[in-house]
Amino acid sequence: MTSRETFKVYQSGKLPFIINDLKRREEPLKVLMCNPEHFDIIDVKNIHMEGMASSLNKNKAIQQWDDLKSIYQKLVVEGLLKELKVIDGAKGCEDMVFCANQSFPYLTNSNEKTVWMSKMRHASRQNEVPFFEDFFKNLGYTPKHFKQTDLFEGMGDTIPHPGKQLLYGGYGHRSKTDAYEELSKELNVPIIALELINENFYHLDTCFVPLSETQVMLCREAFTAEGFALIQQCFDDIFEIPMDEAIQTFCLNAHVVTNNYTNQKAAIIQVGSTAAKDALEKCGYKIYEVETSEFMKSGGSVFCMKMMYY
Ligand code: ARG
Repeated sequence: MTSRETFKVYQSGKLPFIINDLKRREEPLKVLMCNPEHFDIIDVKNIHMEGMASSLNKNKAIQQWDDLKSIYQKLVVEGLLKELKVIDGAKGCEDMVFCANQSFPYLTNSNEKTVWMSKMRHASRQNEVPFFEDFFKNLGYTPKHFKQTDLFEGMGDTIPHPGKQLLYGGYGHRSKTDAYEELSKELNVPIIALELINENFYHLDTCFVPLSETQVMLCREAFTAEGFALIQQCFDDIFEIPMDEAIQTFCLNAHVVTNNYTNQKAAIIQVGSTAAKDALEKCGYKIYEVETSEFMKSGGSVFCMKMMYY
């Protein structure tokens, strides 16, 4: 397949391309966070939130968020990241701190900064989206709105292959494949749609962490056999993380950043994992362990609490 051909969504079988032949994609190196002032647990949007409403320790949550922010600040000072911005949480938007979900920023082939705005599953979360649309508009991005789908949760479910124009799209809980059909057509990028079959892993970013062009860590039980077979075609090394570790530590919600200009690699991960830390070390990441226990009660950890942008 040549780059002039049209790409689409792939859900099973043999892929008509090899990773090496795909176009290069620049990695975003700027980070956005949303402050947790209005963070709360008031309902059950995912299985991790069951019975958690009364157990949230807000002061502890704020401290944990501040600690995570300090790590990002340090990575900016060290030159691994380019910039950190913080958007204010809004009253009534109790999940807005999870700012990986409201949008999907993408640099097109013609170098246009676009941002695809999410169609979130829960009504209260839909209210978060316009705040992010404004943020990106102010940075000169062109906001894009899906015509086809009613479910798409941004970077929570849509994860790029490192350095390549290829996307992985989780579906089954918070996003639908018709979103990927539209995205693939509009951006002319191949998208590998991966059905998520275990409710603990309701977003792709809870079970799948690409580490380099050839390496990925994941929890196999989150995927179908067809999905796993597609992943096997895209990576040489697959580090399988035990399901218990992935559920209990949210280690597959780690945030890994590689700066190809400075050759620095950092991974920020919830404290307590072993297999995932091992994989990160093997892949040359400098590891920063953080405590995100209060946010895990809401079903999220490091990866969900930031958005990378250009
Ligand atoms: N309580 C939030 C929800 O259920 C958590 C979102 C976590 N984000 C993520 N990308 N996994 O929507």
